Amino acid sequence: MSNKFSTFICQNCGSETSQYFGRCINCNEWNTIIEEKKKPRAKTTNITESKNSKLFNEIEIDTISRFTSGFREFDRVLGGGIVPGSIVLLGGEPGIGKSTIVLQSAGIISLNEKVLYITAEESLEQVKIRWERLNQNSLDLKIYAETNLSLIIEEIIKIKPSFAIIDSIQAIYNDEMESSPGSVSQVRTCSSELQKLAKANNVALLIIGHVTKEGALAGPKTLEHLVDVVLNFEGDNIASHRLLRGIKNRFGSTFEIGIFEMFENGLEEVSNPSSIFTNKEHISGVTTTITNEGSRPFAVDIQALVNKTFYNNPRRTTTGISINRLHQILAVIEKHVGIKLSEYDCYIATGGGFEINDPSSDLGVAISILSSLKNIPPLKNCSYIGELGLSGQVRQAYNLRAKIDEAIRIGFKNILIPKTTFEIKDNFQSLIHIKEISDINEAMNYVLEQKV
Ligand code: TYD
Ligand code: MG
Repeated sequence: MSNKFSTFICQNCGSETSQYFGRCINCNEWNTIIEEKKKPRAKTTNITESKNSKLFNEIEIDTISRFTSGFREFDRVLGGGIVPGSIVLLGGEPGIGKSTIVLQSAGIISLNEKVLYITAEESLEQVKIRWERLNQNSLDLKIYAETNLSLIIEEIIKIKPSFAIIDSIQAIYNDEMESSPGSVSQVRTCSSELQKLAKANNVALLIIGHVTKEGALAGPKTLEHLVDVVLNFEGDNIASHRLLRGIKNRFGSTFEIGIFEMFENGLEEVSNPSSIFTNKEHISGVTTTITNEGSRPFAVDIQALVNKTFYNNPRRTTTGISINRLHQILAVIEKHVGIKLSEYDCYIATGGGFEINDPSSDLGVAISILSSLKNIPPLKNCSYIGELGLSGQVRQAYNLRAKIDEAIRIGFKNILIPKTTFEIKDNFQSLIHIKEISDINEAMNYVLEQKV
């Protein structure tokens, strides 16, 4: 029976209603609504003292003294380290390595700061086993195995750490509520209590939240607005590299990504990503593009396999670039190079399955496709930069200078780029052979040395 302490919460989108529905009126999912009861609590008035409005020049800013997470890759995604009193939500699929990165980080931070690691999912012994595997040597990291929110809060107030970790938000519960740990209302209440605690005591908090393969477990999603920074730890279970992506950051840019590799004894940061996403092969169907992720450009291979199709609808699959982008590039080639690609299957995969979002990878994709189709390896030791326009033209690329720099750094001898300024050419011409390209046909003829 529902009563005045009940609310009905959709476990998919988190919307609340005062009565039960079989289908959520907000997200239209069926059977996702559950009743969540709250024990009555004595009303407390908590009126904060009123603060008058101010002019900008009356506001003083404390210089933010961040502390390092112990990883340069992690720090960069955070915007330069951990801000005291801030709350970071670290999401990711189970098993991706969230507890591992956080424990390694906690170990390093605890060399200088007081750190408390709250493990709500694993026992102290389990954490100790992982700790030994990670070869950590800090003697000052405190671990607390607890799931009850009020005990966790008491411990944080008692220990007064500068950095505390909750692993994970889905495993802790507020005993004033009847709903089970992990439900939307538990996740929300626990997070908002922790947020108040962090701000009041100037404790930097890192909250771990599991996200399912489908991308959005209601829990962590609904608390994104409560926290200062939202990061996602991703990768697949086959490849050993892991990416840390910023989704929201009140203290820095969200374009940055951090790259790590998982080994037997923990995660290591990858400071030279070009080395793990390229093979420097000279075979048909493979090119290398220089893509921009965050403030860093790096090289990623693009492989294409183009075969005569046996199907009515030719197969098109991609790993690492969007399927719509592939369809668009195929349409441009069909129209402007004049090849009937509807008779061919086309598969595209990036090096390590790395997800490329930079449109200037188009030229590399197009050349890989043409190279596989003609079975001719493209120009040796060459990298490709340029967005492909719908009229077959090669369009300007963002951050071109830094991309050329990266191509030189990793030893490319040739680079195809969109038409550029004299200044760029003059600066780089002695270090790498630059070929400016205005359209797809020119690029194809140049690197495949074949006229259609
Ligand atoms: P874990 O950090 O427990 O993941 P999460 O907290 O995100 O659920 O990492 C689990 C996986 O990482 C597990 O499959 C084993 C692997 N792993 C290593 O390969 N090397 C290591 O040193 C550690 C600690 C874990
Ligand atoms: Mg874990």
